Amino acid sequence: MYLIVIILACVYNSSTQKSYLMAVATSLAFLLLLSLRVAAETEFIFNGFSDTENNLTLEGASIIKPTGLLKLTNRSQNVIGHAFYHQPIQMFDNIQPNASSFATSFVFAINPPSIGRGGYGLAFTLAPSTKFPGADAGHYLGLVNQSNDGVPLNRIFVVEFDTVKGYRDSADTEGNHIGINVNGLNSIKSEPAAYYENGTDVKDEFNLASGIAIHAWIEYDGAKQVVNVTVAPFTVEKPWKPLMSVGIDLTHILKQTMNMYVGFSAATGEKSSSDHYILGWSFATNGVAPPLNDSQLPEPPPMEKGSSSLSPLVKSLIGALCGVTFILFVILFFSSMCKRYRSFESLEAWELVCPRRFRYRDLHTATNGFKESEIIGVGGFGSVYKGVLPSTGNEVAVKKVVRSSIHGMREYAAEIESLGKLRHKNLVNLQGWCKKKDDLLIIYDYIPNGSLDYLLFNPVGNFVLDWYQRFNIIKGIAAGLLYLHEEWEQVVIHRDVKTSNVLIDADMNARLGDFGLARLYDHGQLSYTTNLVGTIGYIAPELTRTSKASTSSDVYAYGVLLLEVVSGRRPIGLDQFFLVDWVIECYQLNQILDAVDPKLNSVHVVEEVELVLKLGLLCTHHRPDARPTMRQVIRYLNHDDPLPDTSDWGSMSGSGSRFLETICSNNNITTSYNLSSSIEMTSSSIEAGR
Ligand SMILES: *[C@@H]1O[C@H](CO)[C@@H](O)[C@H](O)[C@H]1NC(C)=O
Ligand SMILES: *[C@@H]1O[C@H](CO)[C@@H](O)[C@H](O)[C@H]1NC(C)=O
Repeated sequence: MYLIVIILACVYNSSTQKSYLMAVATSLAFLLLLSLRVAAETEFIFNGFSDTENNLTLEGASIIKPTGLLKLTNRSQNVIGHAFYHQPIQMFDNIQPNASSFATSFVFAINPPSIGRGGYGLAFTLAPSTKFPGADAGHYLGLVNQSNDGVPLNRIFVVEFDTVKGYRDSADTEGNHIGINVNGLNSIKSEPAAYYENGTDVKDEFNLASGIAIHAWIEYDGAKQVVNVTVAPFTVEKPWKPLMSVGIDLTHILKQTMNMYVGFSAATGEKSSSDHYILGWSFATNGVAPPLNDSQLPEPPPMEKGSSSLSPLVKSLIGALCGVTFILFVILFFSSMCKRYRSFESLEAWELVCPRRFRYRDLHTATNGFKESEIIGVGGFGSVYKGVLPSTGNEVAVKKVVRSSIHGMREYAAEIESLGKLRHKNLVNLQGWCKKKDDLLIIYDYIPNGSLDYLLFNPVGNFVLDWYQRFNIIKGIAAGLLYLHEEWEQVVIHRDVKTSNVLIDADMNARLGDFGLARLYDHGQLSYTTNLVGTIGYIAPELTRTSKASTSSDVYAYGVLLLEVVSGRRPIGLDQFFLVDWVIECYQLNQILDAVDPKLNSVHVVEEVELVLKLGLLCTHHRPDARPTMRQVIRYLNHDDPLPDTSDWGSMSGSGSRFLETICSNNNITTSYNLSSSIEMTSSSIEAGR
């Protein structure tokens, strides 16, 4: 280009030496402008951060994990982590002149030790330097401190993803908002984390600090001086409209320095801390941020693992040390066993509200020393043993909770807290509990016929549940759920209604069990943003977007269960078989009876079968407000009310498979749905559990 300019200049203006010099000067000036224009375009993309050490400037707690995650902070108190693109970026357009347009897209995950206890957040940052001397952790996110907060000299632009409220207030509370800030942490505008549903003005809120991957887009239009901030769970496509679109002139920030550093800052505080991760990041000036490649991004670490930042060498050293310690511990254990049998642990608050405490020795005898042959079930958190109490000769089921993680402890507390106080003929009765140093044990009534799942899918011999039994079981579960939802002093959302959580007693009545996932809600209080828990196939579609469990998401799972009981087929099968969709198809072809379990040999009451199938479809309606309440469900089952007109059910079709695709199309998110076996509780119940 330079040559062409010179040549053109020579040809055009070769007469005098003076004009020749002028031509050179002009072309040099032109070249200068040109190079400025060229330098103004920067674009980069990191699909994960493996081998990007040379492209990033890391400071403080920031590290790159072997999995490719960029970890900005761990959960230590008051730590700060910075990660900036290694080169400054030309962000001022001298020709216009104004601040350049830019766009960025990144995926992050925030893992608090438990929901509501994380802090303080992370911030996308444009700054004249990668150094922030004197900056504080906590609310200041490692960018400023109390004395220089808001000072124009800072020249920083910040989009904060803040999980603690209370900046400039005396009390800190859980926060969940996104703010646009200039020169400090005072937001020009902020909004609770949410996204707009497709084509509507309906906003779905979600929790930033729940371990799920979250996608954020920030776009600045330099000419129009507008910044857009959009954010959504990673499972969701880019929302059609930004959460915030704010007029803001960045010229004064970018003009002085011209070259800016771009990156992230995160910080933890004194009482609240989270692991802050970036999974992938792309950035461009004067263009669209290159789209991230979903399949190349590392997975966010699951919530239950307090991830360490130790090197493999240190880990193996620790492993060896643990081994030695373990042997010592075993020796110690045996020598002090007799003492331990007599020692009683101090009672904790939540233990006082519970029913009877059992003696460990009795349970040990009852289960033949927790022999493997006595195991009658294995769940996510340990095994269930059958036992016969030596004192009474009564049969019991003893759930032994593996205490390898704090989550096991919380599940225990949850079960004790909720089940211990609930009494209903269609719930599994909790008799008591026992806590030995290493073992957590919950004692239930022994339910002889096992789970509904077994009776439907793996029965002993040629046993087939007949229609009368199935209809009775369906009604029993409905009565149990109604009790949880409406009849007890608090609303209990089960969150994991499924056939394997329904036990069948000697009279073939249903008993709903496993309240490990239950959360308690006060009556009238709306549900609470939480982590998604449940089992794939039973999770209501709205839960994937909002994670807000509600009585109607239980009704959805109950609807799937209805279809399962009538059809004898599991909710999800091979080759994208999705039970709900299949029954809808049968229904639309006017052949709904095709869905009936062939094992029933046509021995069934047609009206009842049809009622239950249609009710199953109504309960699995993709719109939560179209689903009936459990009280209404029971009225339909008892023929007290006729089912509503089915003409407007058309919109329900296809909801299931679409939801399934959301899960399957994305490996990262599958991890967080695997949380189905883990437990998150409201902070108040955790409090009570300590
Ligand atoms: C706050 O930050 C400024 C600017 O970096 C620094 O000079 C000052 O010492 C800091 N103040 C405190 C109290 O740390
Ligand atoms: C910002 O959002 C508005 C409203 O959706 C849109 O019209 C505009 O094009 C967006 N600007 C950028 C830079 O993306």
